[in-house]
Amino acid sequence: MKILEAFMTEHELIERVAGSLYRWAVEGGDTADASRFATFFRVYSGGFHHGREDGALIPAMVEHLEIPPDSSPIRVIQEEHEKLAELTLRLGEHADRQAATEMARMLWEHIDKENSVLFVEAEERLPRAGVFELDDRPMTVEEEAASLLAEELIERYKPLEDPEIIRGDGCIACSAFTVTCRGIEAEWWNRWEWEEHLSKSH
Ligand SMILES: [Fe+2]
Ligand SMILES: [Fe+2]
Repeated sequence: MKILEAFMTEHELIERVAGSLYRWAVEGGDTADASRFATFFRVYSGGFHHGREDGALIPAMVEHLEIPPDSSPIRVIQEEHEKLAELTLRLGEHADRQAATEMARMLWEHIDKENSVLFVEAEERLPRAGVFELDDRPMTVEEEAASLLAEELIERYKPLEDPEIIRGDGCIACSAFTVTCRGIEAEWWNRWEWEEHLSKSH
């Protein structure tokens, strides 16, 4: 689906700015740049990117798929969007480096779980329910400006990885797994999917 491809391309930019933010936080970057990072995360990452995930993708999944409407991973994804918006505020208002570090780590994990779980499920399940594309929208002028600001920030603070964070695909790499989410099979699979799975494994 085109919108999922667009989301994954946007993830590449957000992921790089998260690395740039992480360098800013741990290496004592210019305090004045906190508000520039916050602008990017509020306008592009929050408004444009999470806005369409929450406004187009998730409502379509809830409406068309036979899944419990308040089940994880959707609930986990939405809670993380809210948490990321709070951290963005703390970053912008107080140049809070701890919030910045937390935000970079959360974004990396958030992107991994969307790319490897949520989007994979959407790509497979929505067409099965007769939904082949979702309405999308182009960037506004402000969002376009925020994406250009990202390139400046990346140039200034070369993206840095946190060596303590081990990234990975699937539920097993997700910090919500077994805490607020039982994993995709337990949350979403129907009887037919379990039977199919069991017949293949015997
Ligand atoms: Fe998201
Ligand atoms: Fe995303």
